[in-house]
Amino acid sequence: MEAAKLHPEGPAFSRVIAGVWRWHNVSVDVMERLINTALEHGITTFDHADIYGNYGNEELFGRVVKRTPALLGHMQLVSKCGIKLLSDRKPAHRIKHYDTTKEHIIASAENSLNVLGAGQLDLLLLHRPDPLMDVDEVAEAFSLLKQHGKVLHFGVSNFTSAQFDLLQRAWSFPLVTNQIELSLTHHHPFFDGTVDHLYQHRVSPMAWSPLGGGKMNLDERVFFNLAAKYNATYSQLALAWLLAHPARVFPIIGTTQPERIGEAAKSLSVTLDRQDWFEMLKMVRGNDVA
Ligand SMILES: NC(=O)c1ccc[n+]([C@@H]2O[C@H](COP(=O)([O-])OP(=O)(O)OC[C@H]3O[C@@H](n4cnc5c(N)ncnc54)[C@H](OP(=O)(O)O)[C@@H]3O)[C@@H](O)[C@H]2O)c1
Repeated sequence: MEAAKLHPEGPAFSRVIAGVWRWHNVSVDVMERLINTALEHGITTFDHADIYGNYGNEELFGRVVKRTPALLGHMQLVSKCGIKLLSDRKPAHRIKHYDTTKEHIIASAENSLNVLGAGQLDLLLLHRPDPLMDVDEVAEAFSLLKQHGKVLHFGVSNFTSAQFDLLQRAWSFPLVTNQIELSLTHHHPFFDGTVDHLYQHRVSPMAWSPLGGGKMNLDERVFFNLAAKYNATYSQLALAWLLAHPARVFPIIGTTQPERIGEAAKSLSVTLDRQDWFEMLKMVRGNDVA
């Protein structure tokens, strides 16, 4: 699979990324099969967060890595921090909240590395915009993690354009992505300036829930025709719709089924023509563009 840079000075990731959020309550063997299936299909980038699986998914993934450390040479690891969940594993948390203090960012990244069994993260994201975020403190945490070779690149998730700029002004290296919800059914970031703002700065968005979390309610009559025309499945068409955007979107798929990982990887060979792209947009909007 084609790898591409998230930003001219950023990491090179597989164009389709595997999200680990739903890979919980599985055995180490199943986790290993999911990882290997992704790698076999050229999906080499894995999207984690400290909190996924009640703070357990990175550890589970790490058990596979620790079995076969050579895997690390074939993958890129992304993690996120900044959300604190109510959890039996975190008795000190009294309420779900955000924490973007220097201490928490560093502790979370170091813990991710430890449980993943990895020497460095390719990318660390702030998971959500924190109303109490002190941008200079965040920049200090990023600098220390970078200086010590623990994290190579930094970015954000679910930030508005203004929040992105606010943090970027305090951080001397480029923020290399904003990971946002983006799909055929959640397409407004293409129209409200969010993606334009990233594109202007040559920052690629990472798209979470690119299949609407499996809840897309699409008009199958239109998809039926396009599926036949492109010899593609509905999910491949929905991913191809994102991949067609010139801002170079990196969809993060969330399936827990190995065969669907392979199906998603093949979406890169589906090149929609311009009118079909608008046909799909019309299908979800219910009307033509103005
Ligand atoms: N930054 C953030 O705030 C944020 C938020 C949410 C997610 N994420 C990231 O984004 C990743 C993907 O999110 P997501 O899981 O919601 O993505 P998604 O790919 O839109 O949804 C995956 C869900 O759709 C189902 N599905 C139904 N039909 C499918 C088909 N034909 N092909 C593939 N899947 C199908 C899957 O079920 P099966 O498992 O049965 O295939 C699974 O439950 C997460 O793993 C996480 O890494 C980030």
